Parts: sequence; structure tokens; C-alpha cells
Amino acid sequence: MSNIKNIGIMTSGGDSPGMNAAIRAVVRTGIYHGMNVFGIRRGYQGMIEGDIYKMHTTDVSNIIQRGGTILKTARSKEFMTGEGMAKAYNELKKHSIEGLVLIGGDGTFRGAVKFFEQYTMPAVGLPGTIDKDLAGTDFTIGFDTAVNTAVAAIDKIRDTAEAHDRIFIVELMGRDAGYIALNSGISCGAEDILIPETVTNIDEVLDKIAAGERRKKTVQLIVVAEGDDYGGAKEVHESISKRFPELDVRSCILGHIQRGGSPTYADRVLASRLGHAAVNALRAGNTQVMAGIMNNEVAFTPFDKVVKGNMPISEDMLDMIRVLSV
Ligand code: F6P
Repeated sequence: MSNIKNIGIMTSGGDSPGMNAAIRAVVRTGIYHGMNVFGIRRGYQGMIEGDIYKMHTTDVSNIIQRGGTILKTARSKEFMTGEGMAKAYNELKKHSIEGLVLIGGDGTFRGAVKFFEQYTMPAVGLPGTIDKDLAGTDFTIGFDTAVNTAVAAIDKIRDTAEAHDRIFIVELMGRDAGYIALNSGISCGAEDILIPETVTNIDEVLDKIAAGERRKKTVQLIVVAEGDDYGGAKEVHESISKRFPELDVRSCILGHIQRGGSPTYADRVLASRLGHAAVNALRAGNTQVMAGIMNNEVAFTPFDKVVKGNMPISEDMLDMIRVLSV
């Protein structure tokens, strides 16, 4: 067991539903074990500015069900500079912080890898991102909620699309990752799903729409991830309208709605489990790792491995898109 007494916690990058549940779990597990827990506001930027305060169990009352993050978040450019990192380290030392819990996504872990190449401090990460684009975990905190939000929205779009016999394109979040689009699209019976991990052949997409029209499909839904190589809803909409000027086409960009809202039970349990595990890992001296969930067990992966590889898209899911939309 390590004798770390003072730990800092922060959320960084894009917020995700369940971050508050994770903060609650870290604060309460830390205090339960006699630690002092310090909240660092606005991620690495708050670390640089010394925006740090001591947290009590009551600071995390009534937040398990809330989206966003009570610690606020930011994407700090300054932290990626040598000067920014030096300032951050000095502030941590000034506040007598001896260990860190970092909650965030890809950018957060890239920042951590750079920081710990130069500075020594025990740290454990938690995967907090709707994108689910981190290796070392089957799920990330916020992903389940984001997909459920997208599914609820697409189901509504299907109702109106069917009423008008329309083709609808729905653009979902995911600059570099298609997991939200893939899982939402499959859940909503989309005709096609376009994601950054696979090359989009627009002629194949258009041929599929033509086949659907021949079979008199009343709705055709195309789900596209914002980072697809062909483009987003706008580009796909233009191509469909150009080839089929007679069809009624509409598109919808769901945007940041996917990042907000009350976390699902799955995200609350995941966040609580990983927050609890992170503090125990710090106590046990198992550090510079991300706590994730693999095969329903808590698993720890070194920071540099988390950012190096994405979880591959399962082939069976890609095949399923073609088969189930006949
Ligand atoms: O947090 C991940 C994410 O929502 C991506 O899916 C999206 O591309 C990006 O953040 C949007 O970031 P911002 O809120 O800074 O525009």
C-alpha cells in the first residue's frame, strides 16, 4: 500500500454523461480511506492556473444523475507546451497533491503521456468520452448515454420520415471514431452507416438507395459519423439529391445533444466502479494506467497503450449493416 494522502481529480476534454458519477465515486472512496481529495477545475487548464479546492463528501451529493461535470472541463493548448506543464506541476506541488485521477478521452491521455515523460507523480486515468475510442476498455463513461440519446432522436426522425416517404440522413458525433454512429445506426435499422474506420464508396451508398426505392421502402435512413472520409450529412445529402432529384431528402445534424443529459444506469455503474477502482489502484501503487472494463472485469492499461490503438470495429457488425437492411 502506498501512503498517498492528498489526491487531485480533474475532468478534461469533451464532457460525457457519467463524469459526475465518476467524480462522486473518487471523492467518496478517497475520503473513506482517509485521503484528502482536491478538485481541479477545467482540466489541465485549471491545473496550470492552480484552480484547485478541497472537496468534501457533500460536494458530490445529488450529482450521480447529472450530465456535464461539476469540475468543468477544457481542452488546454497551453498544457501541451513545456512552460504550461511546468506551471501545472508547480501548482500540484504547491497544493501538496501526491497523486492524480484524470478523467477524459484521447486528448487527456495524450497529455498525460507527455506530462509523465517529464514529471513524476502517481496517476490513474478513467475513460470519460462519448466516442469510445480508447483501447483497454470495452466501454467508456458516457458512450451508452450518447447512443441512447441518438437512438431516441433517430426513432423520432423515422416517424416523420415515414409519414412523408422521405430519405433522411442523420449526422452523429465522432470526429475520428464511428462507434456512436455504428451502434445507433444498427439500433435504429439504418439502411446504411458511414464511419471513419471504413472507406465510404458513395456509388455503393447510392445504388443501395436505388434498390430500396425499387423495393418501395417507405423510409431510408442513412447514419453518418461527422468524421466520415466522404464528409458529413451535407455532402451525403448533396450526392443523393444530385443522383435522385425526384426524391424528397432531408438531413439532421444531432450535434451536442449527444453529449448532455442524465447518464443511463450503465454509465452510472461503470463510472462508479471505475472511480472506486482508480482510488484503490493509487493506494496499491498501480499507477500510470487507465482503469477500464474488459469482459465485465476492471482492467488496467498503461497510458501509452491506451492512446496507441483504437478498439477495432467488429467485422460481424459491418457485415450486419448490409444483411439486415435488405
Ligand atoms: O468529446 C468528443 C466529441 O464530442 C467528438 O465526438 C466531437 O467531434 C468533439 O467532441 C466535439 O468537440 P467540441 O465540443 O469541442 O466541438
